[in-house]
Amino acid sequence: MPEFDYSRLRRFPDVEAPNLQAWDATDELLVQHALDAGVPGAEIAVIGDEYGAITLALADAGLHGIRVHQDLVTGRRALANNVAEFGLGTSSFAAHELDANLLSGARLVLLQLPKTLAALDEIADAVARWAAPDAVLVAGGRVKHMTLTQNDVLARHFGAVQPQRAARKSRLLVASDPLRDREKPLPAPETTTHVISRDGSGFSPGEFVLCAYGGAFAGSKLDIGTRVLLDAMGSGALRASQGAGVRVIDLGCGTGALAAAFALQHPDAVVIATDRSAAAVRSARATMVANGLADRVEVTLDDAGSELPDAGADLILLNPPFHLGASVHEGAGRRLIQAAARLLRPGGEVWTVFNSHLDHRRALTRDVGPTEQVVRTPKFTVTRSIRRG
Ligand SMILES: C[S@@+](CC[C@H](N)C(=O)[O-])C[C@H]1O[C@@H](n2cnc3c(N)ncnc32)[C@H](O)[C@@H]1O
Repeated sequence: MPEFDYSRLRRFPDVEAPNLQAWDATDELLVQHALDAGVPGAEIAVIGDEYGAITLALADAGLHGIRVHQDLVTGRRALANNVAEFGLGTSSFAAHELDANLLSGARLVLLQLPKTLAALDEIADAVARWAAPDAVLVAGGRVKHMTLTQNDVLARHFGAVQPQRAARKSRLLVASDPLRDREKPLPAPETTTHVISRDGSGFSPGEFVLCAYGGAFAGSKLDIGTRVLLDAMGSGALRASQGAGVRVIDLGCGTGALAAAFALQHPDAVVIATDRSAAAVRSARATMVANGLADRVEVTLDDAGSELPDAGADLILLNPPFHLGASVHEGAGRRLIQAAARLLRPGGEVWTVFNSHLDHRRALTRDVGPTEQVVRTPKFTVTRSIRRG
């Protein structure tokens, strides 16, 4: 049988660029491990399969019934597109959230190590809790991004953790003997109370709570950039926010800090918080519940607000991503700027915070409209852009 051609995989609709690839050597090592183990597809679960490389390579090798969980909706859409491209048919796998349906009866779990230890802890807990009693978790990553603490996190949930010899700058950790305790409560989100109160400012939501599940940006901390944007919103009049029923989108909401702070300050606003990460969406929903906002702020899992109508927003709050996976790339932020341009009504505003060395102001002016600097600290710039008609 010919080798699976990883180079045909695409990242679309995620950002594509010559230096960004849709698979890596870790995917190939995980696939080889699964094929060598000879476990049937129906007993395999794949977690963190970024653009579907692992699932598709296994399906291409003839395995059926693989279960897969991807945190990012862009990855889910890329997998669907890649399936069509490879003509593999969707019956070879089924997509799930990180839950019992993904894992029950699974004897081999393949994992691309997540970026945060909190996310790894949550995944390892889920595998030990729900997978088969003799399940083996094989977690792989690029050696330069791996730490010994990852082994310690796995050892909280497995009796044995065995690092393998590195190959092509990637390494697999094999965790076996799951420490099953189904009576243990499910992991709760990390929760922190923040105070934003500025005397004399027009924006002071006071105390609010942030909740974070494993993979969410900044955990339950208030990111410095987010705080700079909240402070800036206090010092300048938010023209678009005047009047009842103002329609606001927190685009790339993470734990929902901007949406929650705005909704607390503006009880009449109609606020939508949206993110492409399932962990972020779970976190933002928990944040809204914790702040008594569950009925007022809708939280959606979506890629760059693709399911929201054109020109339907008066105000967008934007703290765009800086990293794409492990690499630094401006394209992810640019995609959200283009989305803001589509989502805003003419005359609507987008308030954006970004690292001062990034050239987002030019992109905002080009894609959205006239853009002024509201605040600049040594590290962050906040701008206000008005959507041209
Ligand atoms: C810098 S964080 C900001 C999070 C939050 N707004 C805050 O200020 O704390 C950027 C967020 O954008 C999200 N994101 C990145 N690309 C996205 C896309 N294409 N669609 C939706 N959300 C995206 C990330 O998942 C992340 O939660």
